[in-house]
Amino acid sequence: MTEINSVTTLTRDGDVAIVTLNSPPVNALSANVRDGLYEGFKQAIDSDAKAIVLICEGRTFIAGADITEFGGAMKGASLPDVQAMMENSPKPVVAAIHGTALGGGLEVALCAHYRVAVPSARLGLPEVNLGLLPGAGGTQRLPRIAGVEKALEMVTSGRHAPAKEALAMGLVDELVEEGKLKDGAVAFARKLVAENKPLVKVRENNAKLEEAKGKPEIFAEFRKKNARKFRGFLAPEYNIRCIEAAVNSNSFEEGLAVERKLFMELMTGPQSAAQRYYFFAERTAQKIPDVPDDTPTRPVKKVGVLGAGTMGGGIAMNFLNVGIPVTIVELKQDALDRGLATIRKNYERSRGAVPEQTEQRMSLLTGSLSMDDFADCDLIIEAVFERMDIKKDVFAKLDGIAKPGAILATNTSYLNIDEIASATKRPQDVIGLHFFSPANVMKLLEVIRADHTAKDVIATSMKLAKQIGKVAVLAGVCPGFIGNRMLSQRQREANKLVLEGAMPWDIDRVLYDFGFPMGPFAMSDLAGLDIGWVKENSKGETLRDVLCEMDRRGQKTGAGFYDYDENRTAKPSPVTEKIIQDFRAKKGINARTISDEEILERCIYPMINEGAKILEEGKAIRPSDIDVVWVNGYGWPVYRGGPMHYGDFVGPDKVLAKMKEFQGAMGDDFKPAALLEKLVAEGKKFSDLKA
Ligand code: 3HC
Ligand code: NAI
Repeated sequence: MTEINSVTTLTRDGDVAIVTLNSPPVNALSANVRDGLYEGFKQAIDSDAKAIVLICEGRTFIAGADITEFGGAMKGASLPDVQAMMENSPKPVVAAIHGTALGGGLEVALCAHYRVAVPSARLGLPEVNLGLLPGAGGTQRLPRIAGVEKALEMVTSGRHAPAKEALAMGLVDELVEEGKLKDGAVAFARKLVAENKPLVKVRENNAKLEEAKGKPEIFAEFRKKNARKFRGFLAPEYNIRCIEAAVNSNSFEEGLAVERKLFMELMTGPQSAAQRYYFFAERTAQKIPDVPDDTPTRPVKKVGVLGAGTMGGGIAMNFLNVGIPVTIVELKQDALDRGLATIRKNYERSRGAVPEQTEQRMSLLTGSLSMDDFADCDLIIEAVFERMDIKKDVFAKLDGIAKPGAILATNTSYLNIDEIASATKRPQDVIGLHFFSPANVMKLLEVIRADHTAKDVIATSMKLAKQIGKVAVLAGVCPGFIGNRMLSQRQREANKLVLEGAMPWDIDRVLYDFGFPMGPFAMSDLAGLDIGWVKENSKGETLRDVLCEMDRRGQKTGAGFYDYDENRTAKPSPVTEKIIQDFRAKKGINARTISDEEILERCIYPMINEGAKILEEGKAIRPSDIDVVWVNGYGWPVYRGGPMHYGDFVGPDKVLAKMKEFQGAMGDDFKPAALLEKLVAEGKKFSDLKA
């Protein structure tokens, strides 16, 4: 065995040389890895071996470029040098793939002459999710192998294709038995030698590109079909242009030059910076300073859910989906029946629904009218009405029923979890698990740590969140926690702006153009204006009161802030406009013209300011956690990183100056957070705050 460097070895199996990478956690293409590959292949080529296999140790093949190196000075062998060394090798090179071959990793594999993989492997070019495009020939080689249409789909979705599909696409030449990758790859290499197989260079293979030549409609249609999905993002369009270049260029090099140029443009732009920031933000959110990774967790083999309403049903589905049995308890038989039927319907209507799977999941679900049936549950999640007296009553009862060590969780949106926990004699076992609606779909889970919550309860909740496919963020107890607390700032300003002179659709348009999937008023119409509205208590004091009294309760009644046609297409409503004007007249408000810029700043800056307060109160561990909440739970466009990243992008000084200006004109809704003042005084940004 030859040790090439700290992460690379060169070994022999008979006449086959094996270059092995071992650079945990994911064998990313750091300078060290590139050096090792370059030198390893050089020595293998110079040796008397007849073929060369590239394989990785650990959990995965190369998962891509090392994102932490982006933006820094270039060190070590370049990736193109490594690729050229492999592709121009006079001996056949075989890439042996397990885990994931992603981004630069797949681009390296595409410079091998052949690829083998185990069935569990997945291959993809996920750069688009980092606001990038494959910058090491991926956009030029993939369409040459898989064809233009498949390549377009792969690079713009960033999807990881399973090995079997990769085989069908031609990305993989042979599947080898799980767990026997090295032997399989060596045998494959030997066969190449014995049969004198050609050294296939993907770059030279133009047949699939020829098929797409002179057919610009392929690209036009693809753009049109995906316009909604790609809205606001630069990277998908740039990826498409690279594949267009592959088709329309006169040579591989010419296409590669386009790829290089567009890659650099993306790499140095704000969108990719935000998306790369976000990649790490999501992973950092899993790290809790005083709850280290090795904190023991409690086993969760059975879950109880109290309340089978909007949230309870969705919450239960998360656990059934991963094979954890659930007992769901309701007050009355009809509510229980309705709840169970909704769950079944949701399964039956979900995409790719298979009857056997629905039955299998439903068989894990037990409905009951008695909380006593929670006695053997390891975790019980309460999702009953949002009232403190009810929650406390329920928790006192749970305290008497749950087994020792069971975790007692509440899905409350706003209530004080310390107070809820005080109804039990085991506040250390009480935690908030704040799911978002629809709970079986939304990725975000706010995990709320109360004063006495035990560390292993937190560790268990974070781990469980991952198991059920959620992105968890730890928050402290405060009204609305992270997400809703900041949302209420935006909502307040949106409502005020309408009174002052803007129309709901003006505000919605500005926020939509910023990148949100919809604005606050369209959102209200979708959710229903009458959520929490009680006719008997309505005094016609708010716009919502008036609209609800007129039975304009949102999309479901065909009208709300907007008018809706039979296709549920929203149109600005003259009726709403008139109501707003009357409302202003009644309050003696003279409408003024409000600029888009003011709308945006009034809606967004108070959120950033509230985020600063959340941080100074220690209710979020770090600014990036807040961004994870907003991207996953509230549709904040990921290419803007999240509110705190955006605050840094605009500049904390600018945010502060505006808040002061607004405060002077409109009062203490805009009182700057002490932390914001401090950052600006010290010339710092949110990203300078370390947890
Ligand atoms: N560079 C640097 N670090 C990386 C990394 C990368 N490409 N990919 C993962 N990591 C780190 C993570 O930050 C994490 O670090 P931590 O343990 O300190 O938090 C660790 O590796 C493990 O990652 P995950 O927690 O995500 O592990 P999973 O097992 O859940 O997922 C994965 C593994 C599917 C490989 C996932 O990490 C992933 O999707 N990685 C990114 C892949 C990617 O985007 N590749 C393209 C990079 S850009 C590129 O290649 C440009 C080229 O075209 C020139
Ligand atoms: P819901 O009204 O749809 O469902 C509540 C259910 O709990 C009802 O079916 C009711 O019969 C049942 N229930 C009430 N008291 C009970 C008791 N003592 N025992 C058993 N069942 C009982 O309400 P929803 O929307 O599901 O909200 C539940 C909780 O989730 C609330 O705390 C709410 O704030 C929170 N939440 C709601 C979100 C939403 O978008 N709807 C989002 C996140 C949290």
